Amino acid sequence: MLIEDVKNIALEAGELIRSYFGKKFEVEYKTNESNLVTQVDKDSEKLITDFIVKKYPSHNILAEEGSSVNKGGEYTWVVDPIDGTTNFAHGLPIFSVSIGVQKNEETVVGVVFDVMLNNLYSVEKGSGAFVNNKKIEVSENKNLKHSVLVTGFPYNISENPDRAFEKFTALTKASRGMRRLGSAAIDFCYVANGVFDGFWEVHLHPWDICGGKLIAEEAGGLVTDFKGKKIGIHSKQILCTNGKIHDEMLEIINNC
Ligand code: IPD
Ligand code: CA
Ligand code: CA
Repeated sequence: MLIEDVKNIALEAGELIRSYFGKKFEVEYKTNESNLVTQVDKDSEKLITDFIVKKYPSHNILAEEGSSVNKGGEYTWVVDPIDGTTNFAHGLPIFSVSIGVQKNEETVVGVVFDVMLNNLYSVEKGSGAFVNNKKIEVSENKNLKHSVLVTGFPYNISENPDRAFEKFTALTKASRGMRRLGSAAIDFCYVANGVFDGFWEVHLHPWDICGGKLIAEEAGGLVTDFKGKKIGIHSKQILCTNGKIHDEMLEIINNC
């Protein structure tokens, strides 16, 4: 089954990544000195994409570190081999493997493996969201004042895209607190399991979004852009909440 294959390869990639945690590995810069790629990102991506090519030769791949292929088929695997590379490279144990599978541009399967906590989040469209096979649901919190939020910053944050700093300040003031974990896929999952009530970020990429977005939605969450419109995986604005604080967050975001 597709979902079992996605789970197994995410677990395998996670084991590979864990075996390098805290050890020495090659690190290079991508767009700037904040944007890193390690040898382990590349090895994890190779493990996952070699598996796809062998087992699902007609499927397309959209992968962060360059092994994308377009076979023209209806299925596309959207792969982030390590989501949270900065954390991984600096020895902070918060990072994940994130894989979403789309059929004709609709996400049908999502898996996020929180490597160091050994938490495997998974979802199939229409069947609910799970962590280690246990069903998860978003929080019941109805007020922003009682909510804990999470965000992240893109690698061009110094340009303050979409007035992200103003939004950060306003939402921090209006909520119980704001966190910044460094793995967008885990951020989605923590909204899905009710730890956080809302997650917002600008300028994410499809591989940051694909798996986690469906996990949050199937757990009862709402994911839109900053106009409140439903989005796909290419959106540059993400607001993911338990649904109950969505309008309150939208209002603040749109006043910044
Ligand atoms: C990053 C993480 C981070 C987010 C960045 C992403 P990467 O992905 O998801 O939480 O704030 O915008 O680029 O580079 O570690 O795969
Ligand atoms: Ca990422
Ligand atoms: Ca990555």
